[in-house]
Amino acid sequence: MSINILHADPERDSEPISNLINICITEKRTVLSSYTPEGEKRYLEDLGDREAVFVAYIDDQFAGFAGMSPRWPYSDKLLHCGEGGTWVMPEFRGRGIGRALWDQGVFPWCKKVGLTRLGATVMAHNLGSIAFYEKLGFHINGYHRKMVKWGDEYLDSVEIELNYYP
Ligand SMILES: CC(C)(COP(=O)(O)OP(=O)(O)OC[C@H]1O[C@@H](n2cnc3c(N)ncnc32)[C@H](O)[C@@H]1OP(=O)(O)O)[C@@H](O)C(=O)NCCC(=O)NCCS
Repeated sequence: MSINILHADPERDSEPISNLINICITEKRTVLSSYTPEGEKRYLEDLGDREAVFVAYIDDQFAGFAGMSPRWPYSDKLLHCGEGGTWVMPEFRGRGIGRALWDQGVFPWCKKVGLTRLGATVMAHNLGSIAFYEKLGFHINGYHRKMVKWGDEYLDSVEIELNYYP
């Protein structure tokens, strides 16, 4: 199985990304809002120099995506901090796609743009995702009680972080 990691293309990738976000919302595994393909296309078209979305393809099949952007862009003292996430199609999970998105896409790009302290917000019940990030070298750096508003519920999340170039 060969995995291709590419920068997201608004025309090609908006629809499958939008579809995958909706799948992960159904699974209660993402804090992302639902985006229409048009909304996702606008988001991808408007990405700044220090924001990136990578996609994974197995042959011509969309398999997942990962994104990264500055976390606190309002201060020059915090510009090395990024926030990202990873989403893989259910049928492709457990086959190295998430790791490839980071090793071949997000990590080298972060090095290039100077994002060295990386974080992700993961819902506390999403143990598989926490295990995934720990495998990449991240560690849990804190818990947020009732941070995520999910309908009428308030769910806990964890702060998972990596000092990429300490
Ligand atoms: C979490 C997620 C991105 C992992 O992607 P993936 O392609 O399945 O992960 P990989 O196959 O690349 O696994 C990389 C490593 O993480 C480990 N891992 C992945 N999922 C795991 C799980 N559910 N439980 C335990 N370990 C897991 C793998 O065993 C592997 O370890 P290894 O490198 O020692 O072999 C994927 O399951 C997913 O999309 N989940 C739903 C969306 C989500 O929760 N996103 C995170 C919110 S930001």
